[in-house]
Amino acid sequence: MWRLCIILGFFTLTTWGVDRSNFKTCEQSAFCRRNRRMQPGKSPFAASTSKAVQIDSENIALDLVNTLNQKEFTLYLKAYEGPSIRVMIDESDRSPFKRYVALPALQDRITQAPVTITSQGEEKMEASFGKNKEHRLVIFSDPFKIEVYSGETLVITANGRGLMKFEHYREREQKKADVEAEVHQEQTQEEDATKVSYNERGEKIVDGEAKKVEDGDPPEDGAKAAVDEPSAAETDGEDLDGAWEETFRAHTDSKERGPMSVGMDFTFEGFDFIYGLPEHADKFALSPTKGKTDPYRLYNLDVFEYETYNPMALYGAVPYMMAHNEKHTVAMLYLNPSETWVDIESPNGGMLSSMVGFVSNQKQESKRETHWFSETGILDIFFMVGPTPQDVAKQYSGITGVTPLPPLFSLAYHQSRWNYNDQDDVRDVDAGFDRHDIPYDVIWLDIEHTQGKRYFTWDPVRFSEPEQMITNLTAKGRRMVTIIDPHIKRDMNYFIHSEASANGFYIKDKSGVDYDGWCWPGSSSYLDFFNPAVRDFWADKFALDQYKGSTEQLFTWNDMNEPSVFNGPEVTMQKDCKHFGNLEHRDVHNMYGLMLHMATYEGHLRRSNKKLRPFVLTRSFFAGSQRYGAVWTGDNMAKWDHLRITIPMLLSLSVSGITFVGADVSGFFGNPDHEMTTRWYQMATWQPFFRGHAHHDTKRREPWLFDETTNSIVKDQLRMRYSMLPLWYTLFYENEQQAQPPMRPLWWNFPEDTEAFGLDDSHLVGDTLLVRPVLEQGATSVNIYFPGKDTVWYDISTRQKFLGGKTLVQPVTIHSIPVFQRGGSILFTKERVRRCSALQARDPYTLTVALDKAGTFANGTVYMDDEVSFDYRKRDLIYALAEYRQGVLSYQLLVGPGKFETPAWVERINIVGLTELPTKITDGEKLLEFSHSEHTVTIRKPAFHMDSQWSLKLHF
Ligand SMILES: *[C@@H]1O[C@H](CO)[C@@H](O)[C@H](O)[C@H]1NC(C)=O
Ligand SMILES: *[C@@H]1O[C@H](CO)[C@@H](O)[C@H](O)[C@H]1NC(C)=O
Repeated sequence: MWRLCIILGFFTLTTWGVDRSNFKTCEQSAFCRRNRRMQPGKSPFAASTSKAVQIDSENIALDLVNTLNQKEFTLYLKAYEGPSIRVMIDESDRSPFKRYVALPALQDRITQAPVTITSQGEEKMEASFGKNKEHRLVIFSDPFKIEVYSGETLVITANGRGLMKFEHYREREQKKADVEAEVHQEQTQEEDATKVSYNERGEKIVDGEAKKVEDGDPPEDGAKAAVDEPSAAETDGEDLDGAWEETFRAHTDSKERGPMSVGMDFTFEGFDFIYGLPEHADKFALSPTKGKTDPYRLYNLDVFEYETYNPMALYGAVPYMMAHNEKHTVAMLYLNPSETWVDIESPNGGMLSSMVGFVSNQKQESKRETHWFSETGILDIFFMVGPTPQDVAKQYSGITGVTPLPPLFSLAYHQSRWNYNDQDDVRDVDAGFDRHDIPYDVIWLDIEHTQGKRYFTWDPVRFSEPEQMITNLTAKGRRMVTIIDPHIKRDMNYFIHSEASANGFYIKDKSGVDYDGWCWPGSSSYLDFFNPAVRDFWADKFALDQYKGSTEQLFTWNDMNEPSVFNGPEVTMQKDCKHFGNLEHRDVHNMYGLMLHMATYEGHLRRSNKKLRPFVLTRSFFAGSQRYGAVWTGDNMAKWDHLRITIPMLLSLSVSGITFVGADVSGFFGNPDHEMTTRWYQMATWQPFFRGHAHHDTKRREPWLFDETTNSIVKDQLRMRYSMLPLWYTLFYENEQQAQPPMRPLWWNFPEDTEAFGLDDSHLVGDTLLVRPVLEQGATSVNIYFPGKDTVWYDISTRQKFLGGKTLVQPVTIHSIPVFQRGGSILFTKERVRRCSALQARDPYTLTVALDKAGTFANGTVYMDDEVSFDYRKRDLIYALAEYRQGVLSYQLLVGPGKFETPAWVERINIVGLTELPTKITDGEKLLEFSHSEHTVTIRKPAFHMDSQWSLKLHF
């Protein structure tokens, strides 16, 4: 959503691009300065490794001390199924303010697994985890550091450079003498780790008497007088620069709780490539930052006209990083929803990464050093030990969950615009798609559909008959999405506002009154979704009798949920605002978007009594947001660099668990020319979430408004997308079952292929297709890297064969982009042209069997169900495997059908890559007719059914 043109228009009339002065640099953020200027090799922390306690089979605890000031900390170790291992560090002597643990990011059914102390002494202790105790973690006492081993291989070192910081709770203006007295008192207290009380499920470390929090009763902000505190001073070796207050532009952040930052360094040992850490408009393989740029910043922000190729914060944050080399894939989740920065260093100056394989006998030590720090919270880190990308994805999904299978229509094409003006406009656009024979499934309404930006309402003039408008669409098998944002117009006649204010459901400002910020409706308050009662209230608002004019076929788009506040610091909320549970906004900022998304998803579940699958798109997100639906990359631009950056941005999200992702086609701001429009549609056809969307100042862009060539290419692309829906749907089912991202980097399935590690210009769809969009204006050829030395690839349109392990320069025209099917795969498509996906439900399938290099093997899966309900969770579905082996093609059900019925049959089978032509093809006794061209044998109308097993034989 574009931000207020009245405020910003002046500054952006002549130039494109972000107004950087709206957003903090590291130098303008006190805790970033404090952490970034720490020097390695000076860690004051020591661990009592000899006194580590095995609390029970799944939990270990030990003490840590800051030897400079004797402050004590407790470290907890837990393991989870997968396996993954978690290290949590918090103050032992808790402040009156509970440090927040980001439980809502974790899935409900997170399952702990054994972690066992295998040795311990003064110098170090070891713990093992994993099914066969095959992985281990070693904690060194002084200086404190942690080594994580995947099997026998050291993969990650934590605090190896000694950059751990944990700013303990203190009262303002405390005198040094007081500190000493306190320290003395604490030292005389008996320490007994077994006193640590403990939550069975293992997520909560905040417990016991000492940790009790007085909710809603923060201490007085009594330290206003202390303006003369030492800035950038060292106190007990501690840097307290900007610890109690800081100002950015017109905004002063009162930090009544004082310095609370935490940080640590993590070294990925033996890795030159690290990925993840969305959301940044940057390359897929993360670049070194230290000494070059600001650190990568994670702070959810509404950034107007964001720029590409830099580490600035964007709308969402997943503090998750993956490292990959030929032998190993590992990952970590640094679970902290406060503002976070991540520095990356390459000890070899980053040279090695661009010269993989260069003088391998002289190869220097590979590693990536990272330094993470957050404004508040605890240190809460999960390590996923791999060793394959598939393992890491499964291990991580055990922590934050997977994308639930979306309703099929949401994988089809969406048509949006800010705004479709009224219900007649909606009807005309809908009719336009039919008139031009272009398929689409969903039409979207932006903020102008409401009555004065009051969400859950309709403009009474322009959308006077919303229910009829929706049912008119539904009658054709189509759907609608409306936008619903978390800022609420402060108007007592607006039911959401009157109920929310009466119930105290809003976030409070620092003085304790309902926060009032400027957003689309003008003066607005923001619902506090951290309060379960607010999520409950919100979810009920989606009931069909509450959201007047809605139907079960109306779905939701959550925007502006960073949250965006036009007149707030960095266009968001003041950090000293107060949330439910005595939290400050700074503690939970990066999770606000997740909490809205969660409540909306719940609303969709409730309105159908949990029968129908929700569809909710969000702009802001955090780790775990995948459990509630789709994410798009916000307000991009119709520029070539924005087209290009889409691939790395979507790959970063995909490998970080957020798999239902897309970008506005063909750029939200600006007017793309015909070439860019064409290239963008060609690219997005192969990306998970596919929506055309545009700013209200742009020219109308419905596909038939382009010239004839562009119109016909766009139409072909959309038809291509619809033919591929069986593939997308199968991949999303497999994503729910096995956590593998549908859109993925080449190395996901070719992990040893170093050539693929740094690619930003191509990706895979499942393990079936290789896609190389055209990303340059005026391109007449592109470089294509075909991964896999023993793999062959077939051009999906010409069926021409290419050998893996090579880069080729291929000519391109405006009419298509290069897409290849992997030899060894079987692709299921639906080739009949329809108006929308619902009308394809009973259509027959085409199978394309692309044989492997030897010409003897291929396999592939297909998934079907009712496309909308949760009945698939009762196994009312078909999940089937087709396999070609030595001349026999067979099809068998792996799961189902249960109560699911389908008339779908096989109308065509193409076999590509045979080394000789068959003399005949038989189905039992029956002869099947076939034809052949140079590369392909085609069997027409074999009429096999998709709900039962069958096979055919090629005779040579
Ligand atoms: C719904 O469709 C009918 C029949 O085409 C049409 O007369 C009516 O205006 C449509 N309603 C809306 C709200 O678009
Ligand atoms: C398809 O074949 C490959 C290679 O043999 C195998 O690894 C994979 O598990 C097979 N897929 C299924 C679903 O059986």
